[in-house]
Amino acid sequence: MGTAIFAPLKVEKMRKQYLSAPLPFQGQKRRFAKEYIKALRQFPDGTTFVDLFGGSGLLSHIAKCQKPKSAVIYNDYDGYRNRLEHIGQTNAILKDLRGIVAEVPRHKPILGKSRELVLECIRKHELEYGYVDYITLSSSVMFSMKYANGFADLKKETLYNNIRTEDYPECLDYLDGLEITSADYKEVFDRYKNVPGVVFLVDPPYLSTDSKTYQMYWTLADYLDVLTVLVGHRFIYFTSNKSSIVELCEWMGKNKDIGNPFGQCQRREFNARLNYNAEYTDIMLYTAA
Ligand SMILES: C[S@@+](CC[C@H](N)C(=O)[O-])C[C@H]1O[C@@H](n2cnc3c(N)ncnc32)[C@H](O)[C@@H]1O
Repeated sequence: MGTAIFAPLKVEKMRKQYLSAPLPFQGQKRRFAKEYIKALRQFPDGTTFVDLFGGSGLLSHIAKCQKPKSAVIYNDYDGYRNRLEHIGQTNAILKDLRGIVAEVPRHKPILGKSRELVLECIRKHELEYGYVDYITLSSSVMFSMKYANGFADLKKETLYNNIRTEDYPECLDYLDGLEITSADYKEVFDRYKNVPGVVFLVDPPYLSTDSKTYQMYWTLADYLDVLTVLVGHRFIYFTSNKSSIVELCEWMGKNKDIGNPFGQCQRREFNARLNYNAEYTDIMLYTAA
């Protein structure tokens, strides 16, 4: 977390540039940072960048470091800035937790009395300060890639001693210079779609992934809707081969006139359950006689 290099803002002033988000964020584009910087280079400084799915703000932050004269709009849909504002408090909880789990080997489950004390400590902080960054905390006390959204959620899980040994650095400058908003991406798109030369940064949630940290479920239709903001605009778009969206678009490009073959069909469905947490729906579609 928090890898940084220094990028020139002006000749005389250097600014710290992060190549990964300062606090954990699932789906942050840190692996793309260097290639993304190269992609940004083709746009002149002064271009407006709109980060429709801002997440951790990493793409916005890098865009502003690389293009200091540009307006960069960060759509903070998840309230990441709120987490950044509470780094001090998060560090205070982690400090207390380190003391409690001192005897628990690293990466092993926190059991019995230690577990009770960990939960008690988190609860106490929440009652005292009215806020706990459960996502950051999850990466310290839960199994890798597992996240809890609140105390009730955390209480159900096996806890592990993955507690960071160092504090998270305060990063007050990370969002400097960004215009921050928090709204559905369609609304943000409507606000900026007519700005001359605007570049949209488009990194939607993964298809059909029940990402707890984002608190939503994206269907294929949601995913396809995003494509409508790309048409006629400049953009940097991110996806994964899991969504097959690039393959689908290539196919549609070759079969432009197909329309919807199921448009006039009758539809019947059956639900099938594989096991207690996996089910699917079989669908039959048929044309009228
Ligand atoms: C893949 S993440 C973006 C990661 C980001 N580029 C980064 O580097 O941290 C997708 C983000 O879109 C957010 N999101 C989900 N539904 C949204 C919506 N309707 N409008 C805007 N953002 C949305 C999710 O909560 C999540 O933060």
